[in-house]
Amino acid sequence: MSSNDKGPPAGRNKPWSGRFSEPVTDLVKRFTASVGFDHRLAEFDIDASLAHARMLNAVGILAKPDLAAIEKGMEQILGEVRAGTFPWSLEYEDVHFNIERRLTDLVGDAGKRLHTARSRNDQVATDVRLYLRASIDHVLTLIKELQKTLLDLAEAHADTVMPGFTHLQVAQPVSLGHHLMAYFEMFARDAQRFAEARRRVNRLPLGAAALAGTSFPIDRLMVAKELGFDGVCENSLDAVSDRDFAIEFCADGALVMMHLSRICEELVLWMNPRFGFIDIADRFCTGSSIMPQKKNPDVAELIRGKTGRVNGHLVALLTLMKAQPLAYNKDNQEDKEPLFDTVDTLMMSLAVFTDMLAGVKVNKEAMRAAAQQGFATATDFADYLVKKGAPFRDAHEAVAQAVRLATDRGCDLADLKLADLQQFSPLIGKDVFEALKLDGSLKARSHLGGTAPARVKAAIAKARKGL
Ligand code: ARG
Repeated sequence: MSSNDKGPPAGRNKPWSGRFSEPVTDLVKRFTASVGFDHRLAEFDIDASLAHARMLNAVGILAKPDLAAIEKGMEQILGEVRAGTFPWSLEYEDVHFNIERRLTDLVGDAGKRLHTARSRNDQVATDVRLYLRASIDHVLTLIKELQKTLLDLAEAHADTVMPGFTHLQVAQPVSLGHHLMAYFEMFARDAQRFAEARRRVNRLPLGAAALAGTSFPIDRLMVAKELGFDGVCENSLDAVSDRDFAIEFCADGALVMMHLSRICEELVLWMNPRFGFIDIADRFCTGSSIMPQKKNPDVAELIRGKTGRVNGHLVALLTLMKAQPLAYNKDNQEDKEPLFDTVDTLMMSLAVFTDMLAGVKVNKEAMRAAAQQGFATATDFADYLVKKGAPFRDAHEAVAQAVRLATDRGCDLADLKLADLQQFSPLIGKDVFEALKLDGSLKARSHLGGTAPARVKAAIAKARKGL
């Protein structure tokens, strides 16, 4: 894949090729190679190799000068990787062989000693875990940023009335702050899930070697400590074979994307002039090449669309794993692209969504007007009758008839005359109009978890503390 592709003599280019009478075909070489994508693991591979080498030295398997040579060589390799000058080569199949080969080119026999008491099987499992741990930490930071933005917007709109929907029909008035805090809760659970997944990710596979462990007196706990793992994988077969931790990451990612997609769907609807609830800043929208009037919420739509792609990766990984016998199989090489794309998609979506949300302009008047038009306080009307002594079912029926009359007249409940309302129940008095007010409806729901602005503000304050 790189122009530096010199390569060794045909047939002898792989560390395992000694056993073979002919080299793999070019097609097989390209088919089996993963370096085109797993080079992303390079820095983790180097970290893990250094920890392994230091342990080998500590237990007397690797001489001090060899360790020094490996450290020096790896330092140069790290520099090359970061500078983009590392000579990645398809000849050496994957990130692990490429780095080992380069090390040997740079420091000679010491490089060849590094692979003592280790296999690419425990090596790759370690690299992926290190990569995922770093990715989880990054994702957690991004979720926190999003939560902060949600809190700011919710705080500014704790008193903003909007129609709450069920079945996408106007149901009851809610505060926009309350609505946004619903998403805060969802993302809080997402963050918890990632934090829990991190605990399972953060265990060291190295030492499992190919599958059965090694005959060398290795110190796995020392390696675990050096690499910041909480402990080691307890069974060598399990350590090299299962990718449940990667599947879990994708599942947690799919849930985040699903939540993002839901709120994006709402933003798209709300920006439609029929709603007119919000405006999304121009820098997050695009126009049409043919319709000059258009302003399209592309970013929100694209996040909604990318959700499908992450769902696909989750299913790909589940399918990849489902029929694999113990222990390592080459199938597992296929875990990387779905995983990497999940990480990229998740991080990009979270970052761009947070930016976009911070720039959303709310049209309070439109929200209030929509709540006023949809009989949103019909339940409050029924509750009013119940408080006057009517059984709830009778109250429900009386209000339903009042809604019907208002619908026929093309007006809202509060626009009906007292005498009109009284034909549905003798319990109705002048004070009914208080019950039909939006702000009264909101304020009345002041219990824990309710939409009363005071309660919403308390929830925001609590959430802020918790972050
Ligand atoms: N590139 C391989 C992977 O991603 C590394 C492990 C290869 N092990 C093996 N026995 N072929 O899984």
